[in-house]
Parts: sequence; structure tokens; C-alpha cells
Amino acid sequence: MAYRYLLSVNCHLSTIHHPSAIFACMKVLMVCLGNICRSPLAEGILQQKAKEAGLTWKVDSAGTGNYHIGEPPHHLSQKVARLNGIDIAYQRCRQFHPNDMDQFDLIYVMDHDNYQDVKRMSGDKWNESKIRLIFNEINNSNDPVPDPWYGTEKDYHHVFALLTTACENIIQKYSQSNK
Ligand code: 4NP
Repeated sequence: MAYRYLLSVNCHLSTIHHPSAIFACMKVLMVCLGNICRSPLAEGILQQKAKEAGLTWKVDSAGTGNYHIGEPPHHLSQKVARLNGIDIAYQRCRQFHPNDMDQFDLIYVMDHDNYQDVKRMSGDKWNESKIRLIFNEINNSNDPVPDPWYGTEKDYHHVFALLTTACENIIQKYSQSNK
């Protein structure tokens, strides 16, 4: 199975010898433009869902832009996450780095611009098999996750709901072989 080959590269040796646990150690990176609105929510949601499913995944997020490096997530992302029982206040914005292509098994982008920017920034390290539009995990469409940056709290709730569905589907898809 293609995923098994891909993921086994980054997995601990013990899981390589136990293919049924091959997805137990996945490393997933969530990417948006600012790493301040959407991808911090995606990181927090997937981290919590993985924990609930008993998976020790490494989940991180990054931005293609450098506008907010070192800042915590947007206050409305923090608020909406908190209202849903998820703390993302500890997160700090960082920029995508080409080495992320090697470090992570799967990289989810929020929209088509993120995809093109990650491709451009990755240079020689670009690996198309690792990158997905996160909306593909919701309904197989190529829709973007709308950027709430200029929006209201309602827009952040909408993004939270979309990302929750995507993360639930990601967990279901990649944890099946652990059961
Ligand atoms: P994000 O939203 O990509 O979901 O974090 C944005 C945050 C900041 C900016 C753009 C988008 N900005 O231009 O500063």
C-alpha cells in the first residue's frame, strides 16, 4: 500500500516491523498563509482528535507568509477553539521551511495559493505525494477553507466546523489499520 511505504520512512523501527501500527506515529503539518487563523485551529483540532483516538501523532502548523512569526493565534481562533474545549493559546506562528517536506508524512494546505506557495518554497524538496488540500478530506472537492482574517466570529466558527469534519475524517482514514 502506497501510504504504508511513504509513512514507514518516518516511523520508529518498531512500527515498521508491525505494519498494523504503521499509522500510530504519523507526522502531520497544517499550512495556511498567516499561521494565525486557520492552520492553528487545524493543528489544535487534529491534535485533540488524535489524542482521543489513542494515537501519538506529531501535529504542527506553519504559514507560507512571514507576517506573524512568533505571535500566538488570532484571538478569535483562540476564542472559538476554547469554546470547543481546545487550548491553542500556547502555539506560536512559524513560517513553512523546505525541511518540513522531509520532516512530515502529510502536509495539509487550506487553499490553492497555499499549495502553490508550498511548492515554490520547497524547491528541490517538493514531494507532491505528501501534500493534500484539506477540503479533499471533507467531500472530495477542491474547495478552499475560507480565510476568516477579515471576517467576524461567525466566520471562525464556520472554519472550526469545516476543520473538525476534515480532522475526524483524517483520523478515521489513517487509524483504521490500528484497530
Ligand atoms: P490564515 O489567515 O492564513 O488563516 O492565518 C491570514 C492571517 C493573516 C494574514 C492573511 C491571512 N495577513 O495578511 O496578515
